[in-house]
Amino acid sequence: MNEQFKRHRRLRSSAAMRSLVRENELKMDDFIYPLFIMEGEDIKNEVPSMPGVYQISLDHLKEEAEELRSLGIRAVMLFGVPNEKDEQGTGAFSESGIVQQATRLIKKEVPELLVVADTCLCEYTSHGHCGVIHNHDVANDESLQLLAKTAVSQAEAGADIIAPSNMMDGFVAVIRRALDEAGHKNIPIMSYAVKYASAFYGPFRDAADSTPQFGDRKTYQMDPANRREALREAESDVEEGADFLIVKPAMSFLDIVRDVRNNFDTPVVAYNVSGEYSMVKAAALNGWIDEKELVLEKLTAMKRAGADLIISYFAKDVAKWL
Ligand code: PBG
Repeated sequence: MNEQFKRHRRLRSSAAMRSLVRENELKMDDFIYPLFIMEGEDIKNEVPSMPGVYQISLDHLKEEAEELRSLGIRAVMLFGVPNEKDEQGTGAFSESGIVQQATRLIKKEVPELLVVADTCLCEYTSHGHCGVIHNHDVANDESLQLLAKTAVSQAEAGADIIAPSNMMDGFVAVIRRALDEAGHKNIPIMSYAVKYASAFYGPFRDAADSTPQFGDRKTYQMDPANRREALREAESDVEEGADFLIVKPAMSFLDIVRDVRNNFDTPVVAYNVSGEYSMVKAAALNGWIDEKELVLEKLTAMKRAGADLIISYFAKDVAKWL
């Protein structure tokens, strides 16, 4: 046999051989777990479209945070589900807002768990948009002022990382300045730099009660058809002072994760969003796929694409599997 071909199977011959040459691996340090905190008492509601994900009230939070720590999860991302909403989304920046209270509680009870605060107004506005409305559209610069107040109030409550997700132009610059002026120079910004207007957010909007009451988010979130635009978004956020860059959603946008990784040295975060979770859970509950194998495969693919960190509702499952 002197045929000239390569024998790639040599390196796949056993589990030990495969692990020796494995290029990418998941570890629990890579994960951020999203939590939905609801105003009220003794609430633990499973989100119907997201089996295994709960809206919880503050009185369940300590237990939840302790469980996450014991699973080896290092960071949570907090979303608030307030009782009252208004035009301006004032609940987002109130000192006694639900995220501010949740942050203080975690920092008191489980201080080593990092708190990433999602900085947006959509859960708090009566119209469900991510900023204030003028002439039937979200007004950019007016919204920035409210976001800056939100970020500062989250930092004052003890948030370790500020994660603005509302896709207004200039949000990193304005939030950075506001944090610095308020004495929070060392609080990093994890920018949702590249956030597409995606149908994959549907289940999240049930969980966070943040569906827009009119129109959609296409005047501020990006068109999923666009690739080069992602680099322009990422570039301006880096210039404005972003410390991390989020690409969202992850699964259908791994080309973008790779582009961002190749063009910037900033840590890259892939957001494995709600719809990506729900699809897998639905198929798993029907017995149509091997959930563990599939989830580990797709999360590893995010790392392979260049993500340093992954925000995922699967983080708890992964902790049990790894
Ligand atoms: C808030 C926000 C959204 C998500 C994270 N932050 C919803 C949206 O933009 O409509 C979606 C996360 C997910 O689907 O898991 N702006």
